[in-house]
Amino acid sequence: MDLKNLSVLELEEALGKEQKAYRKLQKKGVRVDMTRGRPGAKQLEIAMPMLEAAGSLPYQYDGGDARNYGDPAGIRPARELFAKLMDISPDMVIVSDGSSLEIMYDLVQFAMQFGVLGDTPWNKLDKVKFICPAPGYDRHFSICQTFGMDMITVPMLQDGPDMDLVEELVRADESVKGIWCVPKYSNPTGVVFSDKTVTRLAKLKPAAKDFRIFWDNAYIVHSLYDEDDKLKNIFDVAQKYGNEDMIYELVSTSKITFAGSGVAALGASEKNVQALLKLMFYKKINPNKVNQVMHVEFLKDVDNIKEIMAKHAELLRPKFELFQSKMSEAFSDWEEVKWSEPRGGYFISLDVSGAAKRTVELAAEAGIKLTAAGATFPYGIDDSNSNIRIAPSVPTLEEMSHAIDVLICSVRVALLEKHLGK
Ligand SMILES: Cc1ncc(COP(=O)(O)O)c(C=O)c1O
Repeated sequence: MDLKNLSVLELEEALGKEQKAYRKLQKKGVRVDMTRGRPGAKQLEIAMPMLEAAGSLPYQYDGGDARNYGDPAGIRPARELFAKLMDISPDMVIVSDGSSLEIMYDLVQFAMQFGVLGDTPWNKLDKVKFICPAPGYDRHFSICQTFGMDMITVPMLQDGPDMDLVEELVRADESVKGIWCVPKYSNPTGVVFSDKTVTRLAKLKPAAKDFRIFWDNAYIVHSLYDEDDKLKNIFDVAQKYGNEDMIYELVSTSKITFAGSGVAALGASEKNVQALLKLMFYKKINPNKVNQVMHVEFLKDVDNIKEIMAKHAELLRPKFELFQSKMSEAFSDWEEVKWSEPRGGYFISLDVSGAAKRTVELAAEAGIKLTAAGATFPYGIDDSNSNIRIAPSVPTLEEMSHAIDVLICSVRVALLEKHLGK
């Protein structure tokens, strides 16, 4: 439906009808929180056997004891497991505690304070700029803001960031020091970077020697379907071009075992790993290795991780599919409403042309909490006021069904109001 073709009378009539439906849903008083990509309660049960087994695990390994100090890079078996997951060598892995975001924050802080591999500390420079493909992950942008870095918004396309722009930006300006990438099932669009995009990123020729790609592979094994999407190994390409130091890869078990209480890992060149271990040395003697043993014993190997993830997918898939079917039914002929159809990850990206803020406001007034409109853009500014991030993991299927009905009504009311100039 093209609302531009409707008369004021027709728009008013449609609005009245939608408002009535909206109030009916509002009266049900159901509250649903879809603000963040947290695992649902049933998903968290999947890893409970890990805790049950914890009392009788072999905490001694290879001459080391996980209950004691030592191994600042994490226990060897955990480094080997994450190396297999990222398809790199174990010497390129540091296994840390529960949050990959914390590692990213530390990497930026180290660069700011001490510089990258002997280069000038970023906080001694007039300007530090980061490329932020958008829509993107709000907490990446928050890190930039916290450290006072300038964010350059680059459009996120169907196969990854707009690489023509990225190449131009890094080539031309030495103050461009990094780019955020969520290369697989991107937050929030669900995009998987194409081989061509991965290759172009790995081959970048930045003016800044200390430019870094933050390869936040948070959804590395988070496919919703049996057939996983393949992501090209960026290190393989980077090595060919002498660019292996340019990449920091991050993964975590936040959405495999327990969110924030799992294990996170950094994948980087051995040169980077050695330099970072030196910086980390005075901060922490070692990570929580007891938790690492628990994870290694529970996760076992990459095939077993995939089996665990299939259980998560079984719980998540119906919610994503319900969204697709209800939205297609409601909006297949509405020009101003578009949404992504991710095959994995935790989010769906919804675009409501020029009416995102009002949609989120209406949904909230009817009990459905969504991520703030604009949050998927640097500085919280979505110039087109269109993008809304949907996080379907927490609600039950029944709650999800109600939440989508409210969302549909909210989108319609917001767009009709927009056309009526209200
Ligand atoms: C892209 C991305 N990176 C990182 C995180 C947080 O990961 P962690 O729990 O390992 O800090 C999230 C959580 O939603 C995410 O979507």
